[in-house]
Amino acid sequence: MAGAVLISGASRGLGLATARELAARGREVFAGVRKPGSLPASTGAREVLLDVTSNTSVGQAVHSAVKAAGGLDALVNNAGLHAFGALETASEERFRELLEVNLLGAWRLARAVLPHMRSRGSGHILMVSSLSAKVGLPGDGQYAASKFALEGMSESLALEVRRFGIQVTLLHPGPYNTDMLKLRGSFSKRTAPSAGGEPYAALHRALLERPPKGEPPQEAARAIADLIDSPPAALRCPVGPLAKHIFKRLDIDPGERGERVALDATGLRWWVQGEERE
Ligand SMILES: NC(=O)c1ccc[n+]([C@@H]2O[C@H](COP(=O)([O-])OP(=O)(O)OC[C@H]3O[C@@H](n4cnc5c(N)ncnc54)[C@H](OP(=O)(O)O)[C@@H]3O)[C@@H](O)[C@H]2O)c1
Repeated sequence: MAGAVLISGASRGLGLATARELAARGREVFAGVRKPGSLPASTGAREVLLDVTSNTSVGQAVHSAVKAAGGLDALVNNAGLHAFGALETASEERFRELLEVNLLGAWRLARAVLPHMRSRGSGHILMVSSLSAKVGLPGDGQYAASKFALEGMSESLALEVRRFGIQVTLLHPGPYNTDMLKLRGSFSKRTAPSAGGEPYAALHRALLERPPKGEPPQEAARAIADLIDSPPAALRCPVGPLAKHIFKRLDIDPGERGERVALDATGLRWWVQGEERE
């Protein structure tokens, strides 16, 4: 059997589709869900309880996967939340929740798998980012903030752990047809802009009225599974046709340019290359 993969947020959406795809390709998949029994039986993956906001839950999930599989080849940090609404109207509670899951949750899980990957001298950590990590849009500021932060953290992480044989990849999916895209369906007290939204009412209405238009999640899952089977050279990978188009139009650096400039400026190339300090 090909190597083991742990994936967070696998109860539905891109996480579930990716768990299914990887299991069909013969991978031993540990599918993280928050509620027991949320993983459909047909997925072909093993359900593990995983709430990325809890250190205890993260520790137990990683321990059980490593124990069962003898190690982890890849981690897909997929769990994510969205909130929409102008920043002036954002609820602090919801904004914090977003950062807890999208940023700190990814860090907690990466931190927990790193000792195992370091001891084997190999591993692949994939961060499910977004095009919102590259462009801030009106009404998307909380989500963009969490994904921009994920980008910075992942860039640093990639350079910290390469010397241990561990690779980090940032995935940038375009729109996929999951619950996250259905703003109207998920519009509730928790996701809604809080009081004081009147000046932004037309913007919020326009966002809510926009029909959700995305590709089938299975297509993203195939692309993600391909990147796990054949790890890419680049740090950043667009997923899907729109993301590829936007990467081209914005001339987004897949990673090499930023890395070259940063390492030349700081003199830290020796660390990344696994050398001793002169
Ligand atoms: N769909 C898109 O168009 C799109 C585009 C770009 C990037 N993305 C990114 O892709 C990832 C998956 O999104 P999706 O579209 O599949 O969203 P989704 O259908 O809303 O699924 C989100 C998943 O995250 C899980 N989750 C939420 N809070 C969690 C926590 N505290 N601990 C563990 N799991 C948690 C959810 O579990 P429950 O079922 O328990 O709530 C669910 O499994 C996210 O990181 C998102 O930002 C999505």
